[in-house]
Amino acid sequence: MPVVTRSEVLPTHTPQLFKQAVERAAAALREGDVVAVPTETVYGLAANALNPSAVARIYELKNRPAHNPIIVHVAGLDMARRCVAEWPQTAERLADAFWPGPLSLVLRRAPGIPPIVTAGGPTVAVRWPSHPFIQELIRACGFPIAAPSANPANQLSPTTADHVERLMGNRLRLIVDGGPAQVGIESTVLDLTVAPPRVLRPGIIHEIAIRSVIGDVGSGGAAEGTLKSPGLLRRHYAPKAPLIVISWKDDADLLAQLRVRTSDLNRCHVLAHLRVPLNVPARVSVIPHDPEAFARAIYAELHRCDEEGAGLIAVEAPPDRAEWHAIADRLRRAAASP
Ligand code: TXA
Ligand code: MG
Repeated sequence: MPVVTRSEVLPTHTPQLFKQAVERAAAALREGDVVAVPTETVYGLAANALNPSAVARIYELKNRPAHNPIIVHVAGLDMARRCVAEWPQTAERLADAFWPGPLSLVLRRAPGIPPIVTAGGPTVAVRWPSHPFIQELIRACGFPIAAPSANPANQLSPTTADHVERLMGNRLRLIVDGGPAQVGIESTVLDLTVAPPRVLRPGIIHEIAIRSVIGDVGSGGAAEGTLKSPGLLRRHYAPKAPLIVISWKDDADLLAQLRVRTSDLNRCHVLAHLRVPLNVPARVSVIPHDPEAFARAIYAELHRCDEEGAGLIAVEAPPDRAEWHAIADRLRRAAASP
């Protein structure tokens, strides 16, 4: 692996810069290099999905276990179909409803997809992302792009170029800055090789939305997903400080619960969306009480807690509704003890 002291961050905020960044990133990918790129969910570590040694570098850079497969990103239905052995009606309908967008479909892999991408397994996860940069990059390359989230294994996913730089900056040559991720949490992963299809990782495209398109969907959720998808570890998406998910009646109740966990309230960060505390001596951030807005904000809030050296992070529990399930899932994993 080349030693990189500092990565170059490529801006994309004018048409000219966007075009230059596409060309630079495409050239690097053609040479078998790994580049950090924006997607609408989280930033990804991109490599040519058809080049096994380039994909091997992703595992190395992330320190990712070899048994954890990587999502293949495509631009268009033709490319998606070429990655898989069969393209069922359900895939067609879901692609029609949600692509380009934050939904990854697990299907039987085409022989052309190298085994390292699928961790040796018979299936491949395919996604057509909606972020204009990665779409243009895939078109310029002409090959599909393998990309996990651009963070060291099990840590918090990055939603800005700045997060990537802080997490991986000394290990990457190029980081493309495509602005803050619009979705903010990772894609829904849906297994279409089982009947009924099963959500392996919940996302902003939730079960009810999927059911409205294809009917029956397995409600196994996270626990069974853990068995099927080796990447779905119990502890994941974790900030450095311990994180708790709690509800409170009022400020006094919150304070009492925090005092049980820490004597250092000044280093305690509270992330609230409903009952915003006005009178506790902790650092309080307000996140909108709306699942999509919450998803967009949560990782940036947790990254900030890390930067500011939080001693304890208390997140107000989300409502128990389908639209909030992906958020509850990420918080549960972030809160799991190491
Ligand atoms: O939104 C996203 O999906 C982002 C952006 C970059 O596209 N990518 C992402 O990749 O979150 P990663 O590698 O951090 O998480 C992919 C998840 C892992 O839990 C992995 O185990 C699962 O998807 N996965 C990938 N391929 C699979 C397969 N063939 N079968 C089952 N699960 C799979
Ligand atoms: Mg990840």
